[in-house]
Amino acid sequence: MKRILTGIRPTGPLHLGHFVGALKQWIKLQDDYECYFLLADIQALTTHADNPKLIQESIREVTLDMLSVGLDPLKDNVNFVLQSAIPEISELTTYFTMVTPFTWIQKNPTIKEELKQLSKGATLGFMNYPVSQAADILMVSPNPKDSKEPVLVPVGNDQVPHIESTNRVSRAFNSTYGETFGECKALVGDIGRFVGLDGNSKMSKSLNNAIYLKDSTEEVKKKIMSMYTDPKRIHPDDPGTVEGNPVFIYHDAFNENKKEVKDLKERYEKGTVGDVEVKEKLFDAIENFLEPIRQKRKEFENEDIMKYVSDGTKKAQELAAGNVDRARKAMGLDYPTIRS
Ligand code: TRP
Repeated sequence: MKRILTGIRPTGPLHLGHFVGALKQWIKLQDDYECYFLLADIQALTTHADNPKLIQESIREVTLDMLSVGLDPLKDNVNFVLQSAIPEISELTTYFTMVTPFTWIQKNPTIKEELKQLSKGATLGFMNYPVSQAADILMVSPNPKDSKEPVLVPVGNDQVPHIESTNRVSRAFNSTYGETFGECKALVGDIGRFVGLDGNSKMSKSLNNAIYLKDSTEEVKKKIMSMYTDPKRIHPDDPGTVEGNPVFIYHDAFNENKKEVKDLKERYEKGTVGDVEVKEKLFDAIENFLEPIRQKRKEFENEDIMKYVSDGTKKAQELAAGNVDRARKAMGLDYPTIRS
């Protein structure tokens, strides 16, 4: 089985944007790949250093979300992994910083974009996260002497620079210390971003424009009925715009009744259906989607779900230990008489 590693920062419960942009793909991949789903709690600290409680709660919350949508760590090949519980990741990160020119980070387009959005000055920890992410990925790299199979990394578009820089780091390490690490390859999903309830191009917790997988029926109703639609449409008999309209983007993503969606779009453009009806039908569709997720969440809520994280972390750590061992040997840092 080919290996997959991907990660998520635990900084709050997961929403529909996470589902469309990540979880939906992950659910399919778990049938065919050896999967490592990383709860990147150290990376979460790069933006939430002052809120360890949020991160701690979110680890459980996100695990529950992942289980509720059908990721299944009872399968042998599916592993939930807690980043901070694998010290080998931090050790690899340190080694990788020695072969990573600072200019690579400064020129990374995702870092440049995120720097603009930081509320405080960037910490070293923040600037270093692409290197740490390379360690996340390469800790599960097979020994390139045994297999050239790249680690596959399912991510949105914004993460592609980090995947490329992971390969640059791996090559720099290998050219300095000898062939030690393999490569990785991005699997880019079709939708990187999912529009928010307010029409903002990104659904996000900080913008307060999200529907969460754990939202109740009442919350979902309230959110959908007050969604942003076509601002130019004043009366229900005005012709409306479908293209780029969040209510129709949501219909396309979540309403399985494609005939109904087509009919609503046609009537919307003609001005023969009101926003209220479009939203009510969307509410039904999203409820249909969320109801089985809520059921599963209930089942898992009373279980000791952290045992899944513990099991997966152990498996990832074994792979990480092998890689760190090779890295130390390559760098001349293996002192067998001193290190027990
Ligand atoms: N940077 C990713 C994000 O913000 C999360 C992440 C951490 C990740 N480690 C990873 C993604 C390793 C892929 C591989 O979404």
